[in-house]
Amino acid sequence: MIVAQVRRRLGRFVRRMRPPGPAVDPAVARAARASGDVESTTWDGRLPIPALKLRFMGESEERFIAAAQSLAAVLAANGMKPTSDVLDVGSGYGRLAVGLMDRTEFTGTYLGFDILVRQVDWCTGVITAADDRFKFRHLDLLNERYNPTGTMDPSEAVFPAADSSVDVCALFSVFTHLYRPTIERYLQEIARVLRPGGTAVTTWLLFDDERLEAITSNASTYALRLQGTDGSRFMLAEDPLRAIGYPQQDVVEMAAKAGLHVERVERGCWDTGSPADDKSQFQDLVVLGRATSS
Ligand SMILES: C[S@@+](CC[C@H](N)C(=O)[O-])C[C@H]1O[C@@H](n2cnc3c(N)ncnc32)[C@H](O)[C@@H]1O
Repeated sequence: MIVAQVRRRLGRFVRRMRPPGPAVDPAVARAARASGDVESTTWDGRLPIPALKLRFMGESEERFIAAAQSLAAVLAANGMKPTSDVLDVGSGYGRLAVGLMDRTEFTGTYLGFDILVRQVDWCTGVITAADDRFKFRHLDLLNERYNPTGTMDPSEAVFPAADSSVDVCALFSVFTHLYRPTIERYLQEIARVLRPGGTAVTTWLLFDDERLEAITSNASTYALRLQGTDGSRFMLAEDPLRAIGYPQQDVVEMAAKAGLHVERVERGCWDTGSPADDKSQFQDLVVLGRATSS
């Protein structure tokens, strides 16, 4: 009896003295988190489609493929060459990457980053596994809507790409969810990572005095009736980053301040309703260029 008591006490003492050690290997934890998602992938030929639980925009599988092809086509129509090095900022659940996989002539490289760890894990577990020219990175940046527990300030973010290493930067439906200080930072980061002569293909919700009536009306997909103190307009008081827009002139000026010029603006149909098909421009397209020498 006394021997058993001594053994128990000794056991407790040894357990207390043992260094804590890692609870779970982070790589094992990531793989475990991604595995269920990876397994529920469906395939359209060689193109992967994430499960609906990851497709937070809620489109059907058919529309996922159509949107993927359409995003890649927009890049190709605005400066992307088959050999381009592409950086996809806010890569979501891989729509642009899948669209580029579909273009057999694309022999360049692709790096996407996003603040949503599950979607990034799926992209790595499925897209990179299928074609390792496509890479993804997770950055734990704060976004009230998408990543409210993010630990890093997006207005100080550093894109995971070296200076002058990218031919085309894509930001599809990303500036429509960011506050102005982050936008200013992202424009600077775009200018840093683009090669001279490189292009950024970006979408926005833009307005000016003439468009004000349309963008605040009931017909608008995003009725931007609320005003920020910085000139922005947004739809929902409780969720400003659901859809936030900026004056077109401010965007031109912010871009110029970052060393970028506006090559093209194509207004979309978001202010008058839904697009007719996947090919029509929904948000406003702004193509930015970095001068060939600076
Ligand atoms: C509407 S989704 C668009 C996703 C993708 N670009 C597409 O078109 O399929 C917006 C994306 O922006 C990402 N995002 C939000 N804040 C971000 C930030 N500060 N940096 C990078 N991505 C961000 C979200 O996580 C989300 O994936």
